[in-house]
Amino acid sequence: MGREIIYLPETASTQIVAMEMARKGAGDGTVIITERQTDGHGRLKRLWVSPQGNIYMSFILRPSQTEISRLIMAASLAISFAIQDTTGIMTELKWPNDILINGKKVCGMLVENDIRDGQVNFSVVGLGINVNADMQDYPELKDIATSLINHTGKPVSREKLILSFLHEFERLYLDLNEHGKCVFEMWKKRLITLGKEVDVTSGKDIYSGIVETVASDGSLKIRLADGNLVHIVAGDVSLRHA
Ligand code: BTN
Repeated sequence: MGREIIYLPETASTQIVAMEMARKGAGDGTVIITERQTDGHGRLKRLWVSPQGNIYMSFILRPSQTEISRLIMAASLAISFAIQDTTGIMTELKWPNDILINGKKVCGMLVENDIRDGQVNFSVVGLGINVNADMQDYPELKDIATSLINHTGKPVSREKLILSFLHEFERLYLDLNEHGKCVFEMWKKRLITLGKEVDVTSGKDIYSGIVETVASDGSLKIRLADGNLVHIVAGDVSLRHA
């Protein structure tokens, strides 16, 4: 992981660069990293505010079909471990792929897969970690986002955080085939979404209920007020009593 690191002082979006490079055949584990993005985007095409001081990186991966559903779990755990290792801060995981500190988002993850004839050709995992930019400076984000410096009060070494993340991610990613179940159990343990009352937006539908369980492929099972159980593979969760 990270054998080939492409550093760009500034770019529109590391995700766009990585998707383009992956299509042209860039190898498994290539990382694109930048200081700031002018067109950073998140899930559902939302803007990802990308000022100087944070970490923006995208990984080109060529996972097997069995590894793919657990990629998010491995990457989320690796971030959580790396943040704890570098700053001592404990994070929470919110389904499907947000990392929070005290209920506010410190890291977002975007996974885009290129599937050909039912096979995964490549996946690009994009990570935005709010490190040293003061997220309180952004009125539209200050209630929902945070950064590490907002908790430590002093700058956090991005180099240390990236190295720790690469180490953890490689370890967990390489383990996915053999010990995928173990990665799933660790991820599930840190998931704050379980047992909570939630509203889930999935496509055009909104489901309200209690998260009963999470399946080993990462999908959620929600018990609705009428007693029915719905199975959500992709969506956006908001906790009722965060
Ligand atoms: C989300 O929470 O919606 C996902 C945010 C992902 C942001 C990262 S920053 C690096 C990469 N480049 C992008 O344009 N997006 C991802």
